[in-house]
Amino acid sequence: MQKSSDTSDGITLRDHVYDGIEEYDQKLPNWWLFTLYITMVWFVIAWVAYYQLPVNAPTDYEKLHKEIAQIELKKQAELEKMLASLNDDSLLEMSKDPNHTSAGQAIYESKCAACHGVDLTATLGGVNLPGVPLNDSEWIYGGNPLQIMYTVTHGSPDITKGMIAWQAQLSPSEIAQVTSYILSKQTAPPEPALKPRTEI
Ligand code: HEC
Repeated sequence: MQKSSDTSDGITLRDHVYDGIEEYDQKLPNWWLFTLYITMVWFVIAWVAYYQLPVNAPTDYEKLHKEIAQIELKKQAELEKMLASLNDDSLLEMSKDPNHTSAGQAIYESKCAACHGVDLTATLGGVNLPGVPLNDSEWIYGGNPLQIMYTVTHGSPDITKGMIAWQAQLSPSEIAQVTSYILSKQTAPPEPALKPRTEI
């Protein structure tokens, strides 16, 4: 053991030696200490805010969930507004507007053609695809504009068939556009729905 001693440049050596290693007795740098104290103060603030106050500050997780819930509400409100303002006539009007039908075609080709066929016949090179034809006059759930839009929005009542509720992936306006594209491909008026939906 060696006594604490002053070196020639004024720095104190601590009075222990371990395996020949000696240690200077230096003060920690102020910036380092300051950072440490800030974290301590922040800990107290955060601990009180998140764990001790009766109304806890929301965590990031809670904030995110709140935001998602708000987006969902907005989407639902948008859907209801859109559905309220749309009717068979306005959808038929849209089906004559190339701006809407070309946007609808792009959606159709990326999301629907795999099952309903690029040409809406639900076949590809003579092979039947999983969907049903969308260009004939026979309709399971109805071929009126609003009925088509309803089926696309809410899917088939039998989810195992593969026709999902597209409202999970498409906005109401996109659903209206894809509906307008389907309408633009009709050559004959629709026959009455085989299984009309009671909801509409
Ligand atoms: C995974 C395959 C699949 C995809 C993808 C798909 N559908 Fe379907 N669709 C079906 C099936 C199967 C049915 C028939 C459902 C039934 O019998 O209940 C159907 C039914 C429909 C109907 C009702 C037809 C009728 O006769 O009443 C419409 C309209 C329709 N789809 C539009 C679309 C649109 C638009 C898209 C893309 C946004 C789409 N589908 C994507 C498989 C699919």
